This record gives sequence, structure tokens and C-alpha cells, in this order.
Amino acid sequence: MKVTFAARRPEGQYALAIPVRGEDMLADRLTGLDEAGRTLAARAADAQRFEREAATIAETFITEGDTARRLLLIGLGGKRDDEALYERVGGALTGRLLTSGETKLVIDVSGLDFDGEAAARLAYGAAARGWRYDIYRTKLGKKAKPTLEEIVVVGGGDGADAAWEHKAAVLAGLSFTRELVTEPANIIYPETFVERARAQLEGLGVEIEVLDEEAMAALGMNSLLGVSLGSVRPARLLAMRWNGGGDAKPVVFVGKGVTFDTGGISIKPALGMESMKWDMGGAGAVAGAMKALATRKAKANVVGICGLVENMPDGKAQRPGDVVTSMSGQTIEVINTDAEGRLVLCDAMTWAQRQYKPEIMIDLATLTGAMIISLGFEYGGLFSNDDGLAGKLADAGMKSGDKVWRMPLGDAYDKLMDSPIADMKNSGPREGGSITAATFLQRFVEEGVKWAHLDIAGMVWANKAGHLFDKGATGYGVALLDRFIADNFEG
Ligand code: BES
Ligand code: MN
Ligand code: ZN
Repeated sequence: MKVTFAARRPEGQYALAIPVRGEDMLADRLTGLDEAGRTLAARAADAQRFEREAATIAETFITEGDTARRLLLIGLGGKRDDEALYERVGGALTGRLLTSGETKLVIDVSGLDFDGEAAARLAYGAAARGWRYDIYRTKLGKKAKPTLEEIVVVGGGDGADAAWEHKAAVLAGLSFTRELVTEPANIIYPETFVERARAQLEGLGVEIEVLDEEAMAALGMNSLLGVSLGSVRPARLLAMRWNGGGDAKPVVFVGKGVTFDTGGISIKPALGMESMKWDMGGAGAVAGAMKALATRKAKANVVGICGLVENMPDGKAQRPGDVVTSMSGQTIEVINTDAEGRLVLCDAMTWAQRQYKPEIMIDLATLTGAMIISLGFEYGGLFSNDDGLAGKLADAGMKSGDKVWRMPLGDAYDKLMDSPIADMKNSGPREGGSITAATFLQRFVEEGVKWAHLDIAGMVWANKAGHLFDKGATGYGVALLDRFIADNFEG
């Protein structure tokens, strides 16, 4: 999607969108139209019961010169403290127009008090909602093909271009994440995930290091490797390092990259199993965040680490009851081979801490179905051993629109993971399943490290279109991590 900012409305064919706040006089917002246009717009607002609720639309056609122009009045609601509002409004416009036949959208915010940042947010939402991945659709009908190609935001005040540069970088990261998440597991598996990360990131100056199975075995990553035993696709550990912040200690992100999760020998039911192609959404978000940070040359040091494996049942697969020794030296009884994400993450986390000595480590994972039972599809679950870090992530969540909600940790949960034969088991009781999964991971957090775990099982994929995404991959986490770095490490 082409995005530009302008002081005045252009000539020619386009659909025109006019945002309206709850308290605005509609007439004030329509001063750019002629008398007949104002009458039609006001009538459309009335007839369609347009009450300016956030991201709602009233649509009509007006004549301007010798063209009939599609006009969209779009509500901004009544609240001004809703931080990701403008993204949603932009997204709603694209949602309406993407396959409408219109090729160009002009959003006229003249007369509203939009600064450059707000204008860029509007454009970001509009562009994010336009992302599609149609490479496997060879028979897409004409009417199903997207037509919208260009967005112009008019009247947005100074600084829009600079603000857009940042947003465009986030958008590039978001698109990369969505692509990784959307691709099926016969296309994206550990080796090809690494290839795509290289292709996207090396040119931007991101240093890439990859550990193969031999290297991981030498380091004692038997927990991660155990998950991979049933698969013919060899596992990989991918480290992506962005050095934009001098000699500051890096912030480390760790992503769960299970490129397909059958459950292994504790096999999942057939119904819906195809969705487990996106069990690498945590790794996808980390790779996309690295792309965003490197694209905009963030003034921070960040390392993204992805534990990449495929979890398959096989004669060589690990069994329930097996005991593995993790890289940390702690032993794990594998009660359920479908609780594999934590087995992958624990070794990736240990390696990350030994290798980079971070003060802050944040992992992202589609870790538990129980997370969806708790929070549905609105918030990612946030677990942390540090209130300050948790607060910063919650704040970045509100600002970016990738919302997180804090969940508890504690000894009572932790002891549910004790095993009679090993240091811990990988699966506890059904109740509080996301929390015990988090306490499992916490056992691998080293002294002094501020750690947060984001269980994003409900956020990676959407069964229906949202404000910023169509059905499918959401790209959740990229904007969150970017905001978290921008607000706390680039000052
Ligand atoms: N990848 C799944 C979690 C998941 C399930 C994410 C559904 C998104 C939608 C994870 O590996 C898993 O299977 N977790 C088990 C853990 C259990 C066996 C302790 C779960 O949630 O059922
Ligand atoms: Mn699983
Ligand atoms: Zn999984």
C-alpha cells in the first residue's frame, strides 16, 4: 500500500473519508464539500444512524466536479484516551474499501487537531488492514481481488513523514510475521524459517547465528532436541542480533517456533489440527520485531532468539514418561509430549542467558490452550517476575494496540510442577494450565534476570477479521515489542 501525506486534497478519482468526533458539529467537518455534497452527507449520516462511535462508517456518493465520489464518514468516538484508536479507524476504512473497486483512499483530517503522529497512526492502521497473502490462490475471482492501492492523509500537521518512517518499519515487520505465520508447515519448517529470516534481515545489518542439531547437542539442549526427535525436519536455534545501542546490554526476546505441533505421541485430535501451523507465532513475532527495529535503525541493542522445531509422532519420537536433561542441568519428566513449547523455550532461554547476559528477557509463545480459556482473543497473557517490566509491557500494549493482561505466578502453582522422578514435570493439572506453564519457564530464569513471558496462544491467529487484520495471521507482538523498545531503551 502506497502511503503519502498532503496538506490539501488531490484532484481526480478517489474515495474520500472524513473522520468525525462524537462532539463535532457534522457541518464543521463537511466544510470542504459543496452545498449538495453537505446535504447528501448529512442525510447519509442520519439515514444510516451514524452516531460517530469509534470506527463506524456511514457511506454515500456525492458529486464533485464531474466525478461521483464515494464519501465515508467515520466515527472517532467520544474518548480521547483510547491510544490505539486511530489505527483502528484507519483499519476500518481499508476493511470497507479493500475490494470495493476503489483504488485510492483520501482521509481528510483537516480541522481536527491531528498531529503528524496521529496521521501516521491512521495510515498505519489502513495499511496494516490491507495486508493479504494470496500466493496460493490461483482462482481468485475478480471481485475478491483487492483494489485499494494508495492512501493519502490530508491535513495532518507537521511531522507525519517522520512518524510514518517509524510506522512503515513496524509495518514491514508485521508483514514479515504474518507471512511466516500464514505459510503452511510444509513450506515453513526450522530450516526455511531460518532462510527467510536471513533473506529479510541480513541486508538490514542484523547479525545472524544459527545452531544446528549437532551444536545444540554439544551444548546439552536435550529438552529442545527431544521434541524434535519424531520429525525428519532438523531443529534449529536462530539468533538475530541488532546492535544499534552502543555497548548497552541487549534486551533478549525468545520465541517459541514449533513449526507444526501434532502433539507428538500425546497426539492432538484431528479437528482443527491444521491450526497448529501457527504454533511458531512467538518466533514469528520475534523475527518480525527484529525486522521492524532494524528497518528503522533502532537505537537499542536487541537479540531475538527462536527455538525452531517440529513436533511429530514417530517411531523415533519421545514418549510420555521420558526424562530429559535440559541445558541448565535440570531434569524434566515429559508427562505429555504435547506440552512441547516449554521444552523448547527452556533450552532457548538458558542459551540466551549464558550467551548474552541480558538484564531483560521476554519470551513469546503460543504456549497453552488454557490461555485462550482465560483471556479469549483480546489480551495476551503476561507473566513476570518484575513489576516494573510488567508495567512497561502493559503500557506498550495499550499504546500499540497489542494488549496484554497480567497473570499471577507463585510457589503454590510452581510446586504443582514437581515430579516424583525428575526435577520437574512438563505438565501439571488442567486447572491454571497457563500459569503452571509459566512457572515451568520461570525455573529456567537465572539470578537477577528480569523476565516476562507472553502467552499469545489466542492472539496469533484470528478466525474473523479484526480492525487491523483480515481473518488469519494478525502479526500480534510486533508493534508491542517495537513500542516497548522505543519507549524504554532509545531515550
Ligand atoms: N501449541 C499448544 C497450545 C495451543 C493450543 C495454542 C491451542 C493455540 C491453540 C501447546 O503446545 C499445547 O499443546 N499445550 C497443551 C499443554 C498441555 C498438554 C499441558 C494445551 O494447552 O493443551
Ligand atoms: Mn503442544
Ligand atoms: Zn505447541
